[in-house]
Amino acid sequence: MAVGTKQGYSGLQITLHWLIALLVLFQLIFGESMTNVVDALEENQTPDPTDQTLASAHYWVGIAILVLAALRIVIRLVQGAPEPVGAGLQLKAAKAIHAIFYLLLIAVPVTGLLAVYVSPEIGDIHEIGKPLFIAFIVLHALGALYHHFMVKDDTLRRMFAPR
Ligand code: HEM
Ligand code: HEM
Repeated sequence: MAVGTKQGYSGLQITLHWLIALLVLFQLIFGESMTNVVDALEENQTPDPTDQTLASAHYWVGIAILVLAALRIVIRLVQGAPEPVGAGLQLKAAKAIHAIFYLLLIAVPVTGLLAVYVSPEIGDIHEIGKPLFIAFIVLHALGALYHHFMVKDDTLRRMFAPR
């Protein structure tokens, strides 16, 4: 992926980063409602109305994430992005986690769509997205906080202030 020598992220990149992060959190917190609805329908039972509402939200929020993530990747290719701060293994880890996020942001909603439209069995693959996302969000957030409070560099600040 083209990484420019940019000093920071654009306002659009920052907005997309935090909007997508919020939407992913929503999916992780309420995703089980979709599983409950799928299970109820399989057993010919009427799904709980709250689960139905949240499952419908899961569907549309998931598609929104797919579209926004695709947009974000295109913008990154066009505008570039700053190189993560650090060297050696730390730099490699930061870059790897960013790449894994882009992969998950596409693969998880796509497997969700395939579970709905192609085969319910793909739902099992889709669900693996949950622990993966949680593990990488924890690592990523810890990294950001480490940069801000221990190294005291610009890493977290530049994800708030456009440049
Ligand atoms: C679902 C949640 C999240 C996802 C999917 C996500 C994804 C990403 C991705 C893909 C990048 C790389 C941007 C690029 O160079 O193209 C990035 C950068 C960044 N993220 Fe997140 N992020 C999430 C949550 C968070 C949280 C909770 C924090 C803070 C605690 C955070 C702080 C940052 C910072 C500071 C950067 C800039 C790193 C740098 O400039 O080297 N992110 N994020
Ligand atoms: C980044 C986007 C998404 C995330 C993070 C996500 C996350 C989740 C989570 C956490 C669950 C519950 C897993 C469990 O019960 O332990 C779930 C289930 C499910 N999601 Fe998603 N989802 C996303 C997008 C989508 C999309 C776009 C669709 C379809 C349009 C979808 C369809 C489903 C289905 C059908 C299930 C139930 C799977 C089953 O019971 O086998 N998801 N998702």
